[in-house]
Amino acid sequence: MSLAVSLEDLVPNARLGHYTIVEHLAEGGMGHVFRAFEPSLSREVAIKVLKAELADDPDKIGSFDLEAQNIAALRHSNIVPIYFVGHQGDLHYFVMPFITGSTLDDWVESGVPMSAEQGIMVLGQAISALDWAYKHGIIHLDIKPSNFLVDDSGIILLTDFGLARTLGQTLLDNPDECYGTPAYMCPEQILQQHTDQRSDIYSLGATMYHLMTCRFLYDRETVTELVQAHLEQGFPYADAAALGLSPGWINLFDRMTQKSPADRFQNYDELSAALANVERLGPVRKKEAVALSEGKTVVPTEVCRHQGICLWVAESQVQFLG
Ligand SMILES: Nc1ncnc2c1ncn2[C@@H]1O[C@H](COP(=O)(O)OP(=O)(O)O)[C@@H](O)[C@H]1O
Ligand SMILES: [Mg+2]
Repeated sequence: MSLAVSLEDLVPNARLGHYTIVEHLAEGGMGHVFRAFEPSLSREVAIKVLKAELADDPDKIGSFDLEAQNIAALRHSNIVPIYFVGHQGDLHYFVMPFITGSTLDDWVESGVPMSAEQGIMVLGQAISALDWAYKHGIIHLDIKPSNFLVDDSGIILLTDFGLARTLGQTLLDNPDECYGTPAYMCPEQILQQHTDQRSDIYSLGATMYHLMTCRFLYDRETVTELVQAHLEQGFPYADAAALGLSPGWINLFDRMTQKSPADRFQNYDELSAALANVERLGPVRKKEAVALSEGKTVVPTEVCRHQGICLWVAESQVQFLG
């Protein structure tokens, strides 16, 4: 059994700390996730390892450590906990319980829309996790189906605090870069304005819309069109009804995904109260969307709609949304 010191070494049976690598599970924006085994406690764990290209950047190592600290501050039955943070050679990693099951992304991929009853269960657990984080001063900022794990008993667990911020922390590490996942990203995050719990409420609305219809809230070919839709286009009322959402759910999602944070549910208590009455909510009063593009220039650097990306780098490059 060899001691891993770089990403290439993380093959089955390699040792990282006192864990033994079993298999590579996923690669995302910040890192790689591995299934591993902890012999001393005879249990399976998941290990998130910072990507090699980010591991020489002290800011990225700082964000990765901050992700671990954010999770450690939150003990909640709907949030994946953390066991350990470590460094070995060039590797920076943290260890979590291995959740046997799937993610909500697998649900979307299955092509079967969630029923209203399932939607209430899932949204209720997501609200519980996010409200707990919010009450501990943390906003997630990358709410999307693949960041919710579903364990074997159907419990929903929020993970991936890689973009999370403490409330009130408005300045980004690098104001010339904007990170997020275009399909679920709220207007103020795209525009790099103030973000708070209402930003997570928007992304949660886009996530739940996707789960209950198996369609993106804004189904657009390119990241550029998608970003434009979040900033300028109204809620897709006709599509939502055609896809079988009841007036109450349309009303709920419409309110969650208003362009202006002031028009959304302001906090999770308001959202929970509406969810408790979702089937009794009346049809929505349709409003014209207020365009928020403000002549912002956006340079999508990659073209995948549902993976975390760096959406734009520096404002001055390519004129977009003009
Ligand atoms: N604790 C875990 N148990 C099982 N699978 C996990 C666990 N954490 C992450 N994964 C898998 O790895 C994927 C990526 O993890 P995530 O923390 O979202 O990293 P990234 O920042 O790379 O998106 C998840 O969508 C899920 O499939
Ligand atoms: Mg993720």
